[in-house]
Amino acid sequence: MSVKLLFFAGSTREASLNKRLAKAAATQAKELGAEITFLDLKDFAMPLYCGDLEKEQGVPEPAKKLADILSVQDGVFIASPEYNSSFSPLLKNTLDWVSRIRSDTTPPRTPWHNKIYAVGSTSMGAMGGIRVIQSMVGLLTNGYQVHVIPNTVAVPKGNDVLGADGTIESPQVEAMLLGAMKALHDTAKLHAAG
Ligand SMILES: Cc1cc2nc3c(=O)[nH]c(=O)nc-3n(C[C@H](O)[C@H](O)[C@H](O)COP(=O)(O)O)c2cc1C
Repeated sequence: MSVKLLFFAGSTREASLNKRLAKAAATQAKELGAEITFLDLKDFAMPLYCGDLEKEQGVPEPAKKLADILSVQDGVFIASPEYNSSFSPLLKNTLDWVSRIRSDTTPPRTPWHNKIYAVGSTSMGAMGGIRVIQSMVGLLTNGYQVHVIPNTVAVPKGNDVLGADGTIESPQVEAMLLGAMKALHDTAKLHAAG
């Protein structure tokens, strides 16, 4: 059976470079035989998390919809913009709302659990979001207690390297991303097999 992998970026910007990176990763994973789902967080708009809002209205429908999509995945690739060395508020808000959906097991599990993760970032700068990678790995492993593969992907000058349709203009970036996608695919496959 194919491994199911989800791809999204922590940016809703129409011309988002991180959406391009997520698309490029999805294209490679599909070629590796994965069943891929690419989503745009602009289709999952959520209010900024507030405990009072949650108490009054519960978890927003888009978070529940995202949790349903997550529930059938074996692995997830997230491309995050680097904002002042950290992840975007959109990404954190999305992760947080979805984490408010809990199983009734002991300990309670969020929809993020039981999957393998890979992370990447790109920007127009020379560092390519390298600093947000560390923040992302820390966030996912410590905050959400999930497994992140060690092959992380930072793409400098993403505007020169990544096409809108998921193409990659640099053989080095292509090889780096493919290494990460192989690791995500194979690790998620092993994990799913139990
Ligand atoms: C508030 C803010 C802070 C930023 N901080 C950084 C930064 O620390 N490092 C960096 O490389 N780019 C930084 N940038 C530039 C973004 O990485 C760049 O706009 C990127 O293209 C955003 O991701 P997107 O194209 O996926 O929307 C920042 C942009 C904004 C708006």
